[in-house]
Amino acid sequence: MYVNGKHYRTIWLKEPDKKVVSIIDQRFLPHRFVVKDLHSVSCIVRAISEMHVRGAGLIGVAAGYGMYLAALEAPADGSFDSFIKEAAERIKAARPTAVNLSWAVDKQLKTILNAGSPSEKVIAALETAKEIAGTDAENSRKIGQFGMEVIERISREKGGKRVNILTHCNAGWLAFVDYGTATAPVYTAHEKGIDLHVWVDETRPRNQGAALTAWELGQQGVPHTVICDNTGGHLMQHQMVDVVIVGSDRTTRTGDVANKIGTYLKALAAKDNGIPFYVALPSSSIDWEIEDGLRDIPIEERGGEEVKYIEGLCEGEIKKVLLTPEESGVANYGFDVTPARLVTGLITEKGICKAEKDSIFKLFPEFKK
Ligand code: MRU
Repeated sequence: MYVNGKHYRTIWLKEPDKKVVSIIDQRFLPHRFVVKDLHSVSCIVRAISEMHVRGAGLIGVAAGYGMYLAALEAPADGSFDSFIKEAAERIKAARPTAVNLSWAVDKQLKTILNAGSPSEKVIAALETAKEIAGTDAENSRKIGQFGMEVIERISREKGGKRVNILTHCNAGWLAFVDYGTATAPVYTAHEKGIDLHVWVDETRPRNQGAALTAWELGQQGVPHTVICDNTGGHLMQHQMVDVVIVGSDRTTRTGDVANKIGTYLKALAAKDNGIPFYVALPSSSIDWEIEDGLRDIPIEERGGEEVKYIEGLCEGEIKKVLLTPEESGVANYGFDVTPARLVTGLITEKGICKAEKDSIFKLFPEFKK
């Protein structure tokens, strides 16, 4: 996608030596556009856990590159494989909810352990990291095509009047390598000339909606309005939302969806108001091993300072201010689970299916055991 008219991906290998991974450091957006270089596995682990990069897809791709950096760092002797296994555990532990992380690490682990000499392992890890990144971008592009049909149909039903889409958090191109998932249909429909507008939930505590989704929609020229997290229900009651599209950090094979905290409440409000609620996700976000999202998806709990403090631009500088009494206790659950019964459909790289086992396996028979 474009930043000030220039095409960027969220992560890339730095040319010409290819031993450094560059990222857009999301901590400074929307106020500053900062590109950061990562030289080691430790840098990748820190970038993931402290959310310099974030979003299910991008976390997976960063993990893929992290495993490549681990292969570069590994001693070229008998301890190569144990070094790699230890790096894999460190990367996997960086954030627990997005399944793309362990999916990418396991894919790399298999590749590296199966390759021959240390130099062959490095080459194989590089190829796999690039493949994970390329597939992520291509899957997002396809999700955009399939999801666009939902927006196009609503536009037709409204006689071409503006389609209002509500989204939560950032499942945009910043959360993947390119295009995004929830926003990919928006970009594709916008390019096609469909009149649309996006309601952007600010998404406390880290405000990924206000800071990131609003910024990337603005960069692509998509009309949008930022709203407080509590506004969606009111808008839905007053026919100001035609469809909700969100992303997913982990989806069970039965269609339960873990996504940024607050998603479940939007799904409840959408159900009560008869508004379609779609989840856009690549198959790498599906955890094929689990059935019950509430029971089986680990929900990340993050530090309380994200709730207590808020960050923003003040006289040209990014500053943090205290919101709560210093001594108040806080809780910071990163994600919640929306049960499949509240989901109208899953928009995937292979098409749209119902949020139920049979429908999901019809699109992805290769994962049926
Ligand atoms: O904690 P984050 O910012 O990594 O949150 C993950 C997300 O970006 C959202 O939950 C998103 O809606 C789905 S993942 C693209």
